[in-house]
Amino acid sequence: MASVGIFVGSSSGVTQAVAEQLEAFFEDAELINMEEDYDDLDQFDEFDTLLVGSSTWGQGDPQRDWVDPLYEMENEEPDLGGKKVAFFGAGDQDTHGEEFVSALGKMKEIFSALGADTEYGYWPTEGYDYKFSAAEKDGKFCGLAIDDVNQADLTASRVSAWADQLKGEMGLA
Ligand SMILES: Cc1cc2nc3c(=O)[nH]c(=O)nc-3n(C[C@H](O)[C@H](O)[C@H](O)COP(=O)(O)O)c2cc1C
Repeated sequence: MASVGIFVGSSSGVTQAVAEQLEAFFEDAELINMEEDYDDLDQFDEFDTLLVGSSTWGQGDPQRDWVDPLYEMENEEPDLGGKKVAFFGAGDQDTHGEEFVSALGKMKEIFSALGADTEYGYWPTEGYDYKFSAAEKDGKFCGLAIDDVNQADLTASRVSAWADQLKGEMGLA
């Protein structure tokens, strides 16, 4: 059993590509694409650590493949106590700067309400230019914000720095 589950929803492949880069950084990780590989909430039980990825769509909403699982989580209320969870995802700070990567903040609220420890992988807001983000908590993003539309040249270095940060914070190899 892998110790890190990377659960990702991605419509045009940006957050999926980030998830694949992250998978390569950890010794013992498994990637679960929410459209192709996800069956039910019990899949979370297989991992101590979850890296939860979603791009942001609509008006700050999680990517469509997360809609049903998040609804199930809010209704079935699985106990996520003891799980370490960090969030990542793509957005567009220029065209959608009124809700930049807001999905990360909405998902954090749901996971933490179920007992998960979501205080990992906080990321500086410096270097981004946006109006509002529901992912901004205490002056930082509550996870890794990727903008492949406007800052594609920064994506690879952001992912690798975040993976190193998580290794330290979460004690991962
Ligand atoms: C109709 C539409 C709505 C979007 N809404 C948002 C949004 O509210 N916030 C945001 O940060 N990005 C928004 N985006 C940008 C996408 O999140 C961005 O293109 C991202 O790279 C898609 O990643 P994915 O391929 O992993 O799904 C939107 C894009 C489109 C086309």
